[in-house]
Parts: sequence; structure tokens; C-alpha cells
Amino acid sequence: EEGWMEEYTYEYQGFWYPSATILEGVMWVQQNFKPRHEDILLVTLPKSGTTWFKPLMFAVMNRTHFDLSTHPLLTTSPHDLVPFLELYLHHKIPFPNPDTFYPPQLFQTHIPFTSLSQYVMESQCRIVYICRNPKDVFVSTFYFLEKVRDKKLTPLSLEKALELFCKGLSLYGPFWDHVLGYWKASLEVPDRVLFLKYEDMKRDSSFHLKRLAEFMGYPFSVEEEKQGVAHDILELCSFENLRNLKVNKTGNIITSNNNQVENHRFFRKGEVGDWKRHLTAEMEDGLNKLIEQKLAGSGLAFRDSS
Ligand code: A3P
Repeated sequence: EEGWMEEYTYEYQGFWYPSATILEGVMWVQQNFKPRHEDILLVTLPKSGTTWFKPLMFAVMNRTHFDLSTHPLLTTSPHDLVPFLELYLHHKIPFPNPDTFYPPQLFQTHIPFTSLSQYVMESQCRIVYICRNPKDVFVSTFYFLEKVRDKKLTPLSLEKALELFCKGLSLYGPFWDHVLGYWKASLEVPDRVLFLKYEDMKRDSSFHLKRLAEFMGYPFSVEEEKQGVAHDILELCSFENLRNLKVNKTGNIITSNNNQVENHRFFRKGEVGDWKRHLTAEMEDGLNKLIEQKLAGSGLAFRDSS
């Protein structure tokens, strides 16, 4: 008995997609998504901090349009402000009209680098990839899916889930292939792809927010630096602040046809190293060996403690 992860996923072009993201949606993105040169694409693996970087990047891009006291993030879920590409077709949600929504636009996807539409690489749009250490991603995914999964699916133990994760069977996994795809792209075309770690943003927020804003083409001016604009954006988007907003405490987002996920499910711990409370020494050991093997020669390393 394998448990819900296998019932919940399907394979496409070498990656495991959650059934909530239907194949037609992914293929639609591949065939039709034409970003403009100025648009920005946020790419993550699920549970890597999408719910943090959506508001951060949205706030950076739109900072001249909105006042902090009436900011749309105070009343709208980050997931409703930044379109999640592969869900659009599925739900027949009208795509935000790029001519009426403040352009340029920010989009988000989980699609692996090798499966992006040809138009993405043909355009000059910039890609920001957020990477989080695999132990926290694994633990975060496990507890998230425990809460939101269809209860008709077969239960799955943490041990079994980890075994599957190590074999590559995780949301949009194999984890390594997803991360390394964007890591290599960031080395080959650094002006197009920024590879940023959740742990770095946690540890040195202002430095990395400035770096992110510069890459996005929205550097903070000297005047803004004096006014503490970057600091204000970090405050607005902090775990505590967003989690405690009414919209994120009580609202829902649609994730598949008749499925809704409560917004508060996207705010669990928001820490680096929570995996230590959940994985045994043996599990840690196994993962460390696998990580070493998978990342060998890539130049990429994870930090999994705060
Ligand atoms: P944990 O389960 O470890 O707490 P995603 O948005 O990609 O699904 O990722 C969700 C993870 O990001 C969860 O991790 C969640 O708590 C964390 N998160 C959400 N908002 C955050 C924020 N503003 N700052 C830091 N982490 C945040």
C-alpha cells in the first residue's frame, strides 16, 4: 500500500504533478503563455515560500501605485493577487487583463524549467526561482497535504512519504531535477534567471530584497532607502503580519474544480529548520547522503538550520 501520494499525482515530462493541477492546464500554459518582455515569472516548488514571495514581489513591483495603509495585500490573499498559471484554464477564471491590471505583470508557476513554454525563453521576461531546503519542503508538504487532501485517499505515513520523496515522487518532483533545472539556467543566463533561497531571505532580508528588486528591474532609489521603503515591504509581508490579516485567516482559495483550501493553511510555521521536530536522526542521515549525491558537482548547497 503506497498511500495518497501515488493516488494524488500523475507523471508528465518526467515530473510528478498533483492531480489538483490538471494536465490540460499545464499544457495550455506550455502552448499559450506568452509573457511580455517586462513581465516577471515567479517559479517555486510547492511549499518553498510561494505565499511569501508573491506578496514581496507584488509589493516591490507596484510600490508606486499603492499606499501602505490601503495596500491590496491587506485585504486580498497573495494567491488572488498573483495568478497561478497552470490553474487558470482548469477553473476558467478569466486571466487578468494585462491592459487593465497594472502592467508589467507578475505570474507564478511550478512548472519545471524544461517544460516551460518556448515563448518564455524567447521573450526577455525575467524568472525568479525560489528554492527551499528539501527537509523543510518535505515536512511542510506532508503536513499541508495531511490537512487539505481528499480524505477518501489512502493514508500515508511520514516514513513512506519520505521514501517516495527520495525516489522523486513529490509534488512537481523529483525535487532535485526541479531545483537543478533552474539552478543551471541561473548560471547560464544570470540576467534572465535569479536563483534565490528561502533561508537567505529569512536570514538577511534587506540585503536579499534589494538584490531581488534590482534583478526585477525595480531597484530602490537613494530616496527610498532613506524612507525605509524596503523595510516597510518586509514588514507588510512578514509571516506574522500576513498570517494575522482577516483575509488570510478566514478566506479560501480555489485549487481545483470543487476544491477550496483555506488561506490559513498556507501559514504554518514559516521557519527554517522545523524539520528537526519531525524527522528522526536516521531519516536525516539518509537525506543528507542523498542530497550530497544529487548535488555533487553542481555547486549548489542547502542550509537547513536557522
Ligand atoms: P511551513 O509549512 O514550513 O511553515 P508555499 O507558499 O510555497 O506553499 O509555502 C508554504 C510555506 O511557506 C509554509 O512553510 C509557510 O508557513 C511558509 N510561509 C508562508 N508565508 C510566509 C511568510 N510570509 N514568511 C515566511 N514563510 C512563509
